[in-house]
Amino acid sequence: MKNLCLGLLLSSALAAPAFADDHTTKVVYAGTMIDVESGKALKDRVIVIEDGMITAIGSRATIEDIEIPDDAELIDLSDMTVLPGLSDSHVHLTSDANVHGYKRLTRSTPRAAITGVVNAEKTLMAGFTTVRNLGAPGFADVDLMNAIDDGDVPGPHMIPAGRSIGITGGHCDNNLLPYEAQAIGGGVADGPWAVRAKVRENNKYGAKVIKFCGTGGVLSKGTKIGAQQFSFEEMKAIVDEAHLLGLKVAVHAHGADGIETAIRAGVDSVEHSSLITDAGIRMAKQKGTYLSMDIYVSDYILSEGEAAGILEESLAKERTVGKAQRERFQAAVKAGANIAFGSDAGVYPHGQNGRQFAYMVDWGMTPIQAIQASTIGNAKLFGITEDRGSIAVGKRADIIAVDGDPLADVKELEDVDFVMKDGTVYKSD
Ligand code: ARG
Repeated sequence: MKNLCLGLLLSSALAAPAFADDHTTKVVYAGTMIDVESGKALKDRVIVIEDGMITAIGSRATIEDIEIPDDAELIDLSDMTVLPGLSDSHVHLTSDANVHGYKRLTRSTPRAAITGVVNAEKTLMAGFTTVRNLGAPGFADVDLMNAIDDGDVPGPHMIPAGRSIGITGGHCDNNLLPYEAQAIGGGVADGPWAVRAKVRENNKYGAKVIKFCGTGGVLSKGTKIGAQQFSFEEMKAIVDEAHLLGLKVAVHAHGADGIETAIRAGVDSVEHSSLITDAGIRMAKQKGTYLSMDIYVSDYILSEGEAAGILEESLAKERTVGKAQRERFQAAVKAGANIAFGSDAGVYPHGQNGRQFAYMVDWGMTPIQAIQASTIGNAKLFGITEDRGSIAVGKRADIIAVDGDPLADVKELEDVDFVMKDGTVYKSD
């Protein structure tokens, strides 16, 4: 054992990427560390990691008493800004951005799982160490989570939803084919008991969060974004059943009625929240409901969407909703509502999740607020602050770094240079 000496730290080499667990003690020297709990940037921090968990943090002065084994691996990030791993509350790892509309029909569930493997790695390399996967065919996301957790493939910690629950003919159904094809989404159910049964089934097959569709959507054929889907009674049944089972609930909702009804029913987050009214924002604030507003994706849909197969009727819907959503985001920020970082990556390319930070700042957040949304904020929404969301003793060593100052220019988070998950280094540029 030796006492920690800064000279040794600064001469250290970086670990090569490895996807298996390793048990060596690691010591990260952070030139600047963003403490998302206090919102402060702290200088010259030392972070000690054992078995993938953070066991000590301090300044150079206070850390010198801590015993460090001689074979500890020293990771020098003294020129960098170190942050907790980012998280995204709304992704679809098994979906590809260039496969929309009728092209999606060509994709089997096994093919979607393979797509998920590719996208999981891209997401992790972009600095996102925890994601909620809000909907996948046939529980492909549950298997992806298992493969990542088993160390078979690199990827973020996942909170998978399995099949999204929705009404017949709604946003979470498959409405692309005529009646004869009998194409029905895996999560379709109508009526309070039928939706409860879907929640139970999702839980049985490994879902860790429940997603349902509470209004029409942009990308679904024949649905209206303003129209509520599911009655209050059905929404309440979904939420009650999920909460009995210890699962959080995320609702897809663009229109004001669906948003407000879902908040009343007790959902934990409202995805999109595009046309939320001032009254809806007040309700969300009062109930502590998180608004997960994907305010970047519109740019991708309107510029690349047509080539990717997005239907003309969907492009038309997007033209009515994209800008309005950003304005409502601004209103929600101003009102002090809980805002999650959710991107809907999968509609646009995975690994570009970080592009949304600059939009959140352009539309009313400070850089630290946007960073908090994606770290400690999301961790609160997911109910995982015990081991994630900030760099703190007792939490997982999910740590990223960038070479600039993201508090001055949040776009630094579009190009993350260093990624560690559970103490294993996956990227070190
Ligand atoms: N999956 C969503 C839907 O189809 C995407 C909405 C994207 N547009 C937006 N402005 N956020 O409804």
